[in-house]
Amino acid sequence: MVETLPKDNCGPQHVAIIMDGNGRWATQRGRPRLFGHHAGAKRVREIVEACPEAGVKYLTIFAFSTENWKRTQVEVAGLMSLFRRYIFKEMQAFVKENVRVRFIGDRPGLDDKLRALMDEAEELTSHCTGTNLTIALNYGGRDEVARATRRLAQDVRAGKLDPDSVDEETLPRYLDTHVLPDPDLVIRTSGEARISNFLLWQSAYAEYEFVDTLWPDFSPEEFARLVGQYGGRERRFGGVKP
Ligand code: FPP
Repeated sequence: MVETLPKDNCGPQHVAIIMDGNGRWATQRGRPRLFGHHAGAKRVREIVEACPEAGVKYLTIFAFSTENWKRTQVEVAGLMSLFRRYIFKEMQAFVKENVRVRFIGDRPGLDDKLRALMDEAEELTSHCTGTNLTIALNYGGRDEVARATRRLAQDVRAGKLDPDSVDEETLPRYLDTHVLPDPDLVIRTSGEARISNFLLWQSAYAEYEFVDTLWPDFSPEEFARLVGQYGGRERRFGGVKP
């Protein structure tokens, strides 16, 4: 079991990002939305590389939500192809940079080829001890809690879990994020102040930063500034200052 609360207020150990604004970024340039997603994918690498210096050990990014299937078939197919190519292309680089890759979300809803690449990336980087990069793909917070509850109920039915023992510590063990600490800081780009079903359970005590920058323009400098800003805050987890 990992530690879920930071020991001090020095900086966020786990930063989660809702990468929003690719479509608008492309539209502003008179280009198709997928052009924005490709530009956004380039930013991912730069932000991952900025983590060690910023002191961020865990980075979780929202790449595709369970609601994103409602987009046009062209955009969905383009995004799936981008994810396949991205994982295939970046895998070796992640190993070299000691980045451990994990995926969260509902995998059976994704195509076989993409799932195989996800498994391969997880396996290939499983020994890496640097930044922990978690990519949320076909992820929805409510869907995750529903799937976790289903597994929990199955364990009760199988006699492996006593229903009277279920408390706040039990459900997180069934969530996709069970090996990760809770996020300390959640950033959303593009000026929208919504959490859009991202890490609902895990972000109960997270700080939020909503910035106007569209994701393809989100720079490592802005990331470092937001991370640094967090250091100046005091989190009490519902308690009072000692
Ligand atoms: C939201 O912008 C973005 C997405 C739904 C996709 C996020 C994907 C990437 C950043 C690209 C690649 C990621 C990886 C891991 C390779 P939007 O399309 O909703 O923008 P809009 O609100 O301006 O329309």
